Amino acid sequence: MINVIGLGYIGLPTALMLASHGQAVVGTDYNADLVATLNAGKTTFKEDGLDELFAAALKGGIRFTTEYQRTDIYIVSVPTPYDKFSKKVDPCYVVKAVEQVLEVCPEEAVVVIESTISPGTIDKSVRPVVAASGKRVQLVHAPERIIPGNMVYELLNNNRTIGADDPAVGERIKAVYASFCRGEIVVTDIRTAEMTKVVENTYRAVNIAFANELARICRHDGMDVYEIIRICNMHPRVNILQPGPGVGGHCISVDPWFLVGDYPSLAKVIDESMRTNDSQPAFVLNRIHEIMKERGITDPGRVGLYGLTYKENVDDVRESPTLQLLECQERHLADPLKVYDPLIEKDIVPGQYHDFDAFLRDTDLLVIMVKHDHIKQNWDKLSGKVILDCHNICPLPGVYHI
Ligand SMILES: NC(=O)c1ccc[n+]([C@@H]2O[C@H](COP(=O)([O-])OP(=O)(O)OC[C@H]3O[C@@H](n4cnc5c(N)ncnc54)[C@H](O)[C@@H]3O)[C@@H](O)[C@H]2O)c1
Repeated sequence: MINVIGLGYIGLPTALMLASHGQAVVGTDYNADLVATLNAGKTTFKEDGLDELFAAALKGGIRFTTEYQRTDIYIVSVPTPYDKFSKKVDPCYVVKAVEQVLEVCPEEAVVVIESTISPGTIDKSVRPVVAASGKRVQLVHAPERIIPGNMVYELLNNNRTIGADDPAVGERIKAVYASFCRGEIVVTDIRTAEMTKVVENTYRAVNIAFANELARICRHDGMDVYEIIRICNMHPRVNILQPGPGVGGHCISVDPWFLVGDYPSLAKVIDESMRTNDSQPAFVLNRIHEIMKERGITDPGRVGLYGLTYKENVDDVRESPTLQLLECQERHLADPLKVYDPLIEKDIVPGQYHDFDAFLRDTDLLVIMVKHDHIKQNWDKLSGKVILDCHNICPLPGVYHI
């Protein structure tokens, strides 16, 4: 039996995937409300294919509880935030979860850490906890690469990395993931697995920062960054990403800081890239100000931000550029801007609307922060608005860009 610890965006789909592919699974989360929701037959977030997967996992006999189980395989998928000051990974959730596993597990159990951690975290923070417990367990690191919005497909099809001290244990865990994963599964050592995950997200962050920097250079001298990127990408060895309003989510906006925190004198390009991405919402705020002046819009209350999530077609708002922009605006002691997101039902910020038509009625300058499919189906409702399109998706005439 596999005990999956932490049933959030990563742990839940992983547990469901295993249970729907013939593995005996118990999911454990210390959040009793979350466990009660799952036990009532409901999923806890929106994701394509998740409800179907949930139904299949229930047929496969999955159970949900707040209790840690006594078993031979654990998969730990708890949060790994970073310390805002030192920029280092904060392993406290992982350490706590491993401590709780050690209280109940038998000798020689395998503890798989799926959470994203910086290179050396298992050596520095997890092994000492295991040593102090006096128990012999096998440690494995199996970082997760899936992207919200396409999780089910990516769980099935992505290649994976398994880091283990003992290659035989690595092969055993590879067989567990291979019960559902059709991608290639590479077995390596723990430190390499830790580093690959952080490097993958850092690669994306640096490339996004490059596109954002190009947008600023082009804005400064009145050049069209999208046309320039389009032409450059016709070169056979150039593939520049698109600029945007900033970077959010739990991975690309967080993990590269782990390297800056651990290697401050070496990780210069990474540091600068993260600063560029983090300052992009302020750059958008500045664009809003410029456009308001140009169009004679004096009331910030008539500015509406479309989208609160960190990417399109998901309901995850963690670290989202819109939240970063609102925080930046708040520091200027200004009234809140209006906000609408079709995927967010809860009230998260002041000035938030839940009715698209009412939001549009009260908005003169509409800022497209997130490229949800919903807005692409509603261009006809936007005619006559002043629009700042942060993703270059709006086909209407006279649209402003970042
Ligand atoms: N969300 C993503 O897109 C994504 C992608 C790849 C990797 N990751 C990584 O996966 C890890 C988990 O991220 P997430 O997005 O699923 O986080 P999350 O916050 O959605 O879920 C974590 C869950 O763990 C539970 N939890 C915390 N400590 C616990 C404990 N000691 N015992 C039992 N339950 C506990 C929380 O209640 C929560 O439900 C992180 O390291 C993250 O960096 C996330």
